[in-house]
Amino acid sequence: MRMIDLIEKKRDGGQLTKEEINFFVEGYTDGSIPDYQASAFLMTIFYKDMTDEEITNLTLAMANSGDVIDLSSIDGVKVDKHSTGGVGDTTTIVLAPLVASVGVPVAKMSGRGLGHTGGTIDKLEAIPGFQVEIENDNFIKLVNESQVAVTGQSGNLAPADKKLYALRDVTATVDSIPLIASSIMSKKIASGADAIVLDVTTGDGAFMKNIEDARRLAKTMVRIGNMAGRNTMAVISDMSQPLGEAIGNSIEIEEAIETLKGNGPEDLTEMVYVLGSQMVVLAGKASSLEEAREMLVEALESGKALETFKVMIANQGGNPDIVDDPSKMDQAKYVVDIPAKETGWVNEIHAENVGIAAMILGAGRKTKEDSIDYSVGVKLHKKVGMKVEAGETLVTIYANTEDLDAVTNMLYDNISIGSEVEEPALVRDIITE
Ligand code: URA
Ligand code: CA
Repeated sequence: MRMIDLIEKKRDGGQLTKEEINFFVEGYTDGSIPDYQASAFLMTIFYKDMTDEEITNLTLAMANSGDVIDLSSIDGVKVDKHSTGGVGDTTTIVLAPLVASVGVPVAKMSGRGLGHTGGTIDKLEAIPGFQVEIENDNFIKLVNESQVAVTGQSGNLAPADKKLYALRDVTATVDSIPLIASSIMSKKIASGADAIVLDVTTGDGAFMKNIEDARRLAKTMVRIGNMAGRNTMAVISDMSQPLGEAIGNSIEIEEAIETLKGNGPEDLTEMVYVLGSQMVVLAGKASSLEEAREMLVEALESGKALETFKVMIANQGGNPDIVDDPSKMDQAKYVVDIPAKETGWVNEIHAENVGIAAMILGAGRKTKEDSIDYSVGVKLHKKVGMKVEAGETLVTIYANTEDLDAVTNMLYDNISIGSEVEEPALVRDIITE
């Protein structure tokens, strides 16, 4: 088999066989296929698209390019949840202990943040002592004993994806539905979950800026997951504005704690119930979404979910006292309230740029090598659709510098106030097939 023939076939609109796709993935991973041929091939996929069968074969080839985690020694149906990315997305940190507290085993592998999006693993590291690198045996033991553990992705998970993603990043081929779908699903399948709940975000802060693309991506991933034998569904959610109020690390952990205490922001709380109910049903612990939701509400209101979060923190070496006293996490030196300049309704909060403002403060990474300042970030006091009076606090900035003019102006530019608008719908669609 020759790579040039595969490029030509796809260029002319042909359908690739499983053997051809395996040849490409294996050859690119081991270095026998050079970057220039892989680049050309990715561009043909960008323009000619792929059938579901091709995408499934590409996904499985990438999943099998490295370690495939075996979770079969954990009792019960292991359900994973994955978000296609957002700003201020604190859901995993609330969901993991909440869903675990009703008996669903949560063996979660999460990622780090880059650019305007934050990563769950970075946020958890804001908890003093918290270890995100856990040996596989210990990970399984923790989930069997306590129903929950959250770890970073193992170094050798889907190495083909790691290499291809870096190439896509510099060849303008990130933005392709078959490539995004196979990239995400290869990592989910290699992480060993039996069932997968996808949160496909749409809007300014997300990969998929419009609902039609989000729906296509969701349908593609759901079909691949099911074809690969993993029960998969997707929720399409709004990321036109950040989720919840806090965007940062320590402050998002604090937000997660408040949510587990029942005092969290409305949108974050709702998102957690929507995704959590789907996870509980897929795990076979409830026969309907209503029943699942009732179980979750009861676990949250009784304090059981919060207790599970403490256990999860202690299990992974962290200090569980932060749950009762979040000031035990790193605190910003300057906490500055930014007042609204005018009276009106919040019309838009540009998620991407608000995420970038938090990154500039030090809450995120511009490049992979940057380190993170856990204490800094941004808290939104008014979300889209809410009324605000001139002089009322619009945003609070948590910073370790006094020089906040640039960030303040950026926030003013990206939070617009105008005439009355409705709150955006949080859940835009549910895709089950
Ligand atoms: N996230 C991924 O893991 N891969 C993509 O291609 C896009 C988002
Ligand atoms: Ca948040």
